Amino acid sequence: MTFQNILLEQPEPGIYLLTVNRPKALNALNAATLDEIAAVVRKVAADDAARVLLVTGAGEKAFVAGADIAEMRDITIEQAQAFSEKGMQVMHALESLPVPVIALVNGYCLGGGCELALACDWILASDTAAFGQPEVNLGILPGFGGTQRLPRKLGPARALELLTTGRQVKADEALRVGLANHVYPAAELRAQGLELARSIAAKGPVAVRLVKQAVQRGGNLDLYTACALETDLFARAFTTQDQKEGMRAFLEKRPAKFQNR
Ligand code: CAA
Repeated sequence: MTFQNILLEQPEPGIYLLTVNRPKALNALNAATLDEIAAVVRKVAADDAARVLLVTGAGEKAFVAGADIAEMRDITIEQAQAFSEKGMQVMHALESLPVPVIALVNGYCLGGGCELALACDWILASDTAAFGQPEVNLGILPGFGGTQRLPRKLGPARALELLTTGRQVKADEALRVGLANHVYPAAELRAQGLELARSIAAKGPVAVRLVKQAVQRGGNLDLYTACALETDLFARAFTTQDQKEGMRAFLEKRPAKFQNR
């Protein structure tokens, strides 16, 4: 599949880098771009050798400045419903990928862009990043999950403040409130993202997938049911060659050679 609105690279084995590539529109998400992101998600999901997906925006100014306002301006209620459903499906699919998905937020990260970053497992931000849900400035509300994922990440009070004021959150505040895990100088963001992806790719691949599954599925369960889930997944890890190799390598004081099985 050739893409018009995104770039997909594999800078190193197992590491995918998706770049939303509409810099003239600050990488705004139109329907075609959402379809292309969905195709990438399907490709990564089908690749047993995939270890990490990094998501970023083209150019120096924006990660993604929102859903495409020009495309939305004159749509009907039915089209608005369909556009939101499409965006939701893409965000759910991205979040549900079995491997870690990490947003490299390199500038404006607004509206649908902030929702895209929130659907990633965690966020690394550049010192130029600016997060926000400015939909109220346009007379609408978020449509790709922002009213749900932002409160789950920041708590309802902080999220409601941002959702009702449209205020932008700069990198230092994003770090302080837990929106971003780390902040780096803009010129270093990609290298830091790759370094992180490399370190995850070197771990036991089945174990990394099980960890993500435990955290994601467990988050929707009560504590004791979630801990029982962890027990099941822990036991399952002992059916793998990687567990045997990982523990043997530790005891033999050598690096493990994981086989992903
Ligand atoms: N959709 C479409 N085009 C956009 C866009 C968007 N979300 N954001 C920026 N652009 C376009 C601008 O129209 C402009 O195009 P032209 O050069 O053709 O005029 C170009 O990108 C550059 O933008 P600006 O000239 O505005 O750049 P700036 O530096 O002055 O301002 C900005 C940057 C503060 C990010 C400003 O562009 C902005 O406020 N953008 C809109 C942010 C927004 O409201 N996002 C939410 C969208 S609604 C949504 O996302 C709904 C949802 O949840 C599903």
